[in-house]
Amino acid sequence: RPHLHYRSGALHLEDARLADLAREYGTPLYVYSRAAMLDALAAYQRGFAGRRARICYAMKANSSLAVLQVFARAGCGFDIVSGGELQRVLAAGADPATVVFSGVGKTRGEMRQALQAGIACFNVESEAELEVLSAVAQALGMRAPVSIRVNPNVDAHTHPYISTGLKDNKFGVAHERVLATYRRAAQLPGLQVKGIDCHIGSQITEETPYLDAMDKVLDLVQAVEAQGIALEHIDFGGGLGIDYQGDTPPAADALWAKLLARVDQRGYGQRLLMVEPGRSLVGNAGVCLTEVLYLKPGEQKNFCIVDAAMNDLPRPMMYEAYHAIVPLDQASSAPHQTYDVVGPICESGDWLGRERSLAVRPGDWLAVLSAGAYCSAMGSTYNTRARAAEVLVDGAQVHLVRERESVSDIFRCERLLPAEKI
Ligand code: LLP
Repeated sequence: RPHLHYRSGALHLEDARLADLAREYGTPLYVYSRAAMLDALAAYQRGFAGRRARICYAMKANSSLAVLQVFARAGCGFDIVSGGELQRVLAAGADPATVVFSGVGKTRGEMRQALQAGIACFNVESEAELEVLSAVAQALGMRAPVSIRVNPNVDAHTHPYISTGLKDNKFGVAHERVLATYRRAAQLPGLQVKGIDCHIGSQITEETPYLDAMDKVLDLVQAVEAQGIALEHIDFGGGLGIDYQGDTPPAADALWAKLLARVDQRGYGQRLLMVEPGRSLVGNAGVCLTEVLYLKPGEQKNFCIVDAAMNDLPRPMMYEAYHAIVPLDQASSAPHQTYDVVGPICESGDWLGRERSLAVRPGDWLAVLSAGAYCSAMGSTYNTRARAAEVLVDGAQVHLVRERESVSDIFRCERLLPAEKI
């Protein structure tokens, strides 16, 4: 993992000694590397060098304001999926003209909000949404820029919960309905057709599904334009996987060299090309630090109980996802044992890692790796556990970018019942 290394037995992210951060800010603590994010972005930038291209960071992966700032300053656009994400990304200083809005359930209020902000494009996911968006835009005296998200019906070979480009997924407009949907979009007075988009899933580690989806999208570009409807941009979505456990996804630049060869071959090389990567930009740029609270040996299993839990890092519980877990201090004299690493929450699904060999004692710190994407962002306050603090490191500089939430923050919006009459 880039920028994560042991120096004299102590785990560092860039030049920051993680044990120092755990001591100073407490645990659980998310730590992100700015350089690792920029390196991941650079692979895409190399892939699109010399092209008219926009990299729209899918901010759902990690929407912390400081992370958004890093990408906004590096020239990224953003893929948003809610009015909340729009507000966030604007608060981080992004240019709304670089924002695309995806999602199957945009409300009228969110549509108005995005139109008034002046976003680049709505990635429309159904015929019903198209009608509503046109009406909302017309009422504002505007024309909404739209792209139709096509469902190319390819299997991304990933976990079923994060596969999105299959016929029976709720996403996008079915391949055979795409032409009719574009014809309708071109007729509607509140719309302005801009482009086409697709997204086939997440944590994709093979190039074949990308190549197949690309062929289908390019076929559709041709068919749509044959109807006299011009498409200024082609958006290929996100989905590129990262290495969690010896996974070998293609590098972004190598993958795009192959995909762009197809685009060129079909004569679309001059279009504005867009992508929406999330995980591959941030996933391996973050770790979650946690303290070992108790060791609980058992007949069947040994448990290593830590202070981070499924509310902080839900991916193992939700997808049985694997995240490597390593000690901050390599030089422990504790004996190696096989543990299930579990959190304090009252559910058996509250685990972070299973059957891990660790040499630890209570009070030691561990780092859960590959925790930059879909970890903090999917966190909750279940069991009234306050959200973890977040730190961004930049060389030896350390910025606290999210204070640890307080318990009163958690119930701030709640109201007590009136006093009982006696
Ligand atoms: N564009 C659209 C329309 C999407 O729905 C997504 C992710 C992306 C882009 C970014 O995909 P990425 O490059 O990050 O793979 N919570 C799950 C992942 C859900 C992905 C949802 N959509 C997880 O933790 O694995």
